[in-house]
Amino acid sequence: MYYKQVPDHIPRPDYARPENNGKPRKPVDLKGRPLPLKNELKGEALARMRRACAAAREVLEEVLSAVRPGVTTEELDDVAHEGCLRRGGYPSPLGYHGFPKSLCTSLNEVICHGIPSPGRALRDGDIINCDVTLYLEGMHGDCSETVFVGAPSAEARALVEFTYEAMMAGIAMAKPNALLNEIGRVIAARAKKAGYSVVQDFSGHGIGPQFHMPPQVVHYYERYNYQRLKEGMVFTVEPMINAGDLYARVLEDEWTAVTADGRLSAQFEHTIYIGKRGPELLTAGEPFFKRQLAALDAALDATRGAPPEAP
Ligand code: MF3
Ligand code: CO
Ligand code: CO
Repeated sequence: MYYKQVPDHIPRPDYARPENNGKPRKPVDLKGRPLPLKNELKGEALARMRRACAAAREVLEEVLSAVRPGVTTEELDDVAHEGCLRRGGYPSPLGYHGFPKSLCTSLNEVICHGIPSPGRALRDGDIINCDVTLYLEGMHGDCSETVFVGAPSAEARALVEFTYEAMMAGIAMAKPNALLNEIGRVIAARAKKAGYSVVQDFSGHGIGPQFHMPPQVVHYYERYNYQRLKEGMVFTVEPMINAGDLYARVLEDEWTAVTADGRLSAQFEHTIYIGKRGPELLTAGEPFFKRQLAALDAALDATRGAPPEAP
């Protein structure tokens, strides 16, 4: 296994420097004492974070636009890699704790951290989550979407729609002074009602100068977590929702997390900023799967010979 090259003029996160072997360094002061990690951003640091997140979203859009039957997940990785470099950014997954690729591609029963491979071509009926993280101007921007390859089954369609709405409902709870656990509470309540499970083994996270920082953002209900949100915090919300039970298993490659029961899993992710009035989506964009569904419905109408809907 070899890593794709990143030109020397592109600044790398600390873990991607050869001497650090994939491990992020703990921040220390001038005397080498550990510094507490705070991820509240303002001023020019926030401006840099906004640009990193906007660029990550653009790369995700390029990757999702390349999804179709026959394309390999390695080809999607190429798109992500080139998209990051073209913007002067580093693809954050590459080398992170030894992750071998620039993008995570999680198909069907894969919950997260799927590794792109030239041996896996997309097939009609697959669902795939593409997770892009970009390091630009000293900041990481992180976002993902699940999309359809060709036409989805009814089960896949319902799960993907549910997962997106659950993420958005969780994000809506993220306001200054709210409890952090409100996010997971609303996501878990919706999942329970719909008969889905919330993955507990992977979480959202603070993000900014480091890929993964405090706070940990779980997507289930943590009753005794009393942490409150503050204006300026930046973190991800990225629920993984399973059609069957919540249990996960990690494959021999030490990355790919799959559902223990082999049933479908879907995920969406935004990086958000806690503004005075509420959450701001730093990785905002029109979800790709909604455009896919609109196109599929239009094609269906056409084959039925139905007249287009009146405006
Ligand atoms: N982007 C993932 C997240 O949402 C993390 C991927 S870690 C990697 O947190 F090493 F697999 F890239
Ligand atoms: Co993330
Ligand atoms: Co991510």
